[in-house]
Amino acid sequence: MRKILTRGLAAGAAALLALSVGACGSSEREGGESGEQAGAAKGFAADALIGVALPSKTSENWVLAGDLFTNGLKEAGFQADVQYAGASTTVADQQAQITAMVTKGAKAIVIGATDAAQLSTQVAQAKQSGAVVIAYDRLITNTKDVDYYIAFDNFKVGQLQGEALLEGMKAKKATGPWTIELFSGSPDDNNSGVFFNGAMDVLKPLIDKGELVVGSKQTDIKQTATQGWKAENAQSRMDSLLNSTYTGDKTLDGVLSPNDTLARAIITSIKGAGKPIPVVTGQDSEVESVKSIMAGEQYSTINKDTRKLVAETVNMVKTLQGGSEPQVNDTKSYDNGVKVVPAYLLEPVIVTKASAAQAYADDPKLSPLTK
Ligand code: BGC
Repeated sequence: MRKILTRGLAAGAAALLALSVGACGSSEREGGESGEQAGAAKGFAADALIGVALPSKTSENWVLAGDLFTNGLKEAGFQADVQYAGASTTVADQQAQITAMVTKGAKAIVIGATDAAQLSTQVAQAKQSGAVVIAYDRLITNTKDVDYYIAFDNFKVGQLQGEALLEGMKAKKATGPWTIELFSGSPDDNNSGVFFNGAMDVLKPLIDKGELVVGSKQTDIKQTATQGWKAENAQSRMDSLLNSTYTGDKTLDGVLSPNDTLARAIITSIKGAGKPIPVVTGQDSEVESVKSIMAGEQYSTINKDTRKLVAETVNMVKTLQGGSEPQVNDTKSYDNGVKVVPAYLLEPVIVTKASAAQAYADDPKLSPLTK
């Protein structure tokens, strides 16, 4: 967890041209494991069973991913076993689901980890059985048994959120200081730290200069965390902040929210207190948040098109099935504490009211909302 939890991705890493791990020859040095050991070079049957273990449905992207995987894998000729962790016993559920996939003989297991650090036993079982393990959207930490990571560039997501927050506040009030509050995601999700570090990469220099003032002084990720990515936890923290720090006519200029579900909960809290809605960031392009952005409430979201991420993951599985090395474009950034996991990163896109129509032009569900 050395680099990724402290620094995250080098800026622009996702813009690098796709390199093959095999071609650049760096996976063995940096990842500590060759593709052949990863099971890639062997290939497997064209109709093999592929397991997909997703976390609980804490945001719309996970709901979309399940159907897309079921259909995409079937269209590619595979048998698909797509499972979600339950709403409460998430870790135990996911552990049992992965073990069951191994028992059923899955040749590749795609995992959106419910808790990054709690899957080492299960991914070791998968590797021992000869399956390829792909971390999807969220990195799996503290194990050598994860072969590939595929995600949107999470550090970039955080940077875009920080930049949007500043841009939105400047548009309302040209000069600072601006008063803000910071929220982060669930501590068991490796992405939470990466998003937060990306945002702080942009915001911290201004906090240090006094141009941004965190009213509550809560700037540590432990203080800003939202357990389980649950809306009610963000809403109650915002309620407490309003009661402790924003009494009387004190107002906020902005709130860094790591995703849309939490952004809407934060806005609900602020509206409930009768305060003006500040600039609030988000992520995921959830339907209700796109509506809120178009209505001038939530300021921004991020488009991480789940259709593209799932399609690229299915491509990766198909390539592995054929016995070739899948493409990766980052072999440096995602240190999971034991190895640097070769990653294929996609580029996230910031969306505000001004850019929504263009950003969602090819999305039949979101495009009509922007008209
Ligand atoms: C995903 C986000 C999502 C969050 C909560 C993260 O790991 O990258 O897109 O909002 O989980 O589900």
